[in-house]
Amino acid sequence: MSSIYLSVEEQSLLDGGQGPGVQRAMEIVVTLGRIYGAARLVPISSAHISGVSYKNLGAAGLAFLNRWAEEGARARVPAWLNPMGMEADRWIEMGIPAEFAEPQLAVIDAFRRMGVVPTLSCTPYLLAEEVAQPGEHLAWAESSAVVFANSVLGARTNREGGPSALAAAIVGRTACYGYHLDEGRRATHVVEVHAPLHTVADFGALGQIVGQQVGSGVPYFADLGQWLPALPGEVSPGSEAVDRLKTLGASLAAYGAVALFHVAGYTPEAVAVGEDLLGPDVQFLSVEGLDDAYLAMNDEGVLDIDLVSLGCPHASLAEIAQVAEFVRGQQMNTQLWVTTARRTRERAVVDGWVQTIEEAGGRVVADTCTVVAPLQLLGVRTLATNAAKTACYAPAHSGVRVRFGTIEQCLQAALSGRWSN
Ligand code: F3S
Repeated sequence: MSSIYLSVEEQSLLDGGQGPGVQRAMEIVVTLGRIYGAARLVPISSAHISGVSYKNLGAAGLAFLNRWAEEGARARVPAWLNPMGMEADRWIEMGIPAEFAEPQLAVIDAFRRMGVVPTLSCTPYLLAEEVAQPGEHLAWAESSAVVFANSVLGARTNREGGPSALAAAIVGRTACYGYHLDEGRRATHVVEVHAPLHTVADFGALGQIVGQQVGSGVPYFADLGQWLPALPGEVSPGSEAVDRLKTLGASLAAYGAVALFHVAGYTPEAVAVGEDLLGPDVQFLSVEGLDDAYLAMNDEGVLDIDLVSLGCPHASLAEIAQVAEFVRGQQMNTQLWVTTARRTRERAVVDGWVQTIEEAGGRVVADTCTVVAPLQLLGVRTLATNAAKTACYAPAHSGVRVRFGTIEQCLQAALSGRWSN
């Protein structure tokens, strides 16, 4: 392991000067820095912590968090949580058993005692304007949020693990390596896309193809701006460009391990730095069509759908409005979940979108999503989604068979109970 420079204050945190909880956090941050060859630590402005669902944590994870909280660990920068395994206040209605719900609520309580705000969403960038400035250092763990922060916001974060993001929040610093450094942000692949991209699902399909080919590389999309209906610099939480970019990033991160992409003339660094962003051994990749991705993400044998899942990453207000307009005055034939942040749900209530969807028999579900909720306990065996990340993870994480298509195809399936191409 390499050596790492620590200031006097940092050394004191590592030596236990502020108690065992802070010392434990500093040990994690410094050890990661040594493993990855960081020369120093860097102050962070926020942390986003994943691994919140009791489905993933189990009793051992809950005990670990409780011990850390009892040791006096407290976040010293704004710190937020990824979705947990259920809605905080409607878990009985969801059919979640108490043996899952009670420890899940205890997990949230442990985070709360450490000063972490239970936003319970993977889209912190939809919840506050200017959640991170270009060039700002962060310690975010949710892979879809990491890729959005790096690529669209121009901030700098590695793909932290849940414990390392919490540790970084407790010491207000993270190890400075990887995507925190200019050299880690150079493109490894130039990608030309020769297929039209009309829908959010198309952006997910593109992410499946490119993610599988570039792995943990940094794609530089040469010509994607034409499919993003907002001008560079006007990418705001309400714009369809955000819905497309968050889906693309989530898919690249799920099917590959992408933490950063650039769009020529569009994303902040591509605008500021231009072609100097290309790394020394850049490779070229051409995407001619999306059919292979749609084929790979679809289980052709699935016709009857138990659950239609929209909102991965968590739905924006615009996406909830689109669902409401589609289902207004109709009735579902199977379950529909539109998963979103609690704050977004509250805004959608004000606009009447939630009432419209729930009158049609659907649910706008806060705090959770279909990948981290215990779907098997709820009897769900087949699922339809317009989210490439859900299509990637749900079979392995939740044991379900998946259909992937446009939001319109998914909503038709919710109304009829059956998938049709
Ligand atoms: Fe978010 Fe769950 Fe998808 S955490 S990115 S909605 S898998």
